[in-house]
Amino acid sequence: MLSGLPVTTRLRPIIAIDGPAGAGKSTVARRLADALGYVLVDTGAMYRTVALAASRAQTAFGDAARVTELAHALVEAHALSFERDVELGVRVRLAGEDVSEAIRTPDIAQGASLVSAHAGVRSALLALQRQAGEAGGVVLEGRDIGTVVFPDAEVKFFLTASPEVRAGRRHAELVAKGQTVSFDETLADVKRRDAQDEGREVAPLKKADGAVVVDSTDLDFEQTVARMLDVVKTASGVASA
Ligand code: DC
Repeated sequence: MLSGLPVTTRLRPIIAIDGPAGAGKSTVARRLADALGYVLVDTGAMYRTVALAASRAQTAFGDAARVTELAHALVEAHALSFERDVELGVRVRLAGEDVSEAIRTPDIAQGASLVSAHAGVRSALLALQRQAGEAGGVVLEGRDIGTVVFPDAEVKFFLTASPEVRAGRRHAELVAKGQTVSFDETLADVKRRDAQDEGREVAPLKKADGAVVVDSTDLDFEQTVARMLDVVKTASGVASA
């Protein structure tokens, strides 16, 4: 028995990136996936798509039974699909329709935070997330990747930044997309989502055991990516594809 050695059949690692809303996980995850030649899995997009489907079905985000039923129905019908897109990071389809833009509104962000608190919704999406990542050579980003989805991920990050800095980045993104929203509203949204994501009973947002904390409050994007790539290379002796 080779005690002390990790038991893994993966040739290439799983990289888990968790952290609060607006910490820059999506852009960083995308860059890491590109730099390493890995698959990118945006699990927040999955919760957002369930929220969009609920909103269109006029189902209240808080209605656990109906939203859970809807999430299972979508997964069983293979109605959620995600493909890599150079411009968007991930292109998302709901029953064939491109909803990549529609899932990025503040209302759907708030809805995603609410639907993701239902245990039934989480278990419906868990299977999809594990399927997408189990072979390794993948960067997954979300809130519970290192704690629940892949607690055995070879590399785990907790990417964070102060609420003000996160709101500032999110606000700039929304304004660039032509949305009219104030900084104060964006900050309030960020804080509300933090409270919801950290306070829920199922799979709350928290640092996973063994996760490396990267606080990007005083780091720019390139510095953040460089620090994380260093960790990946050291931790896994990883070779890019
Ligand atoms: O990362 P994001 O903003 O796209 O995520 C939208 C919401 O989905 C977020 O408020 C919490 C939820 N989420 C989650 O609960 N677990 C994940 N692994 C990813 C996202």
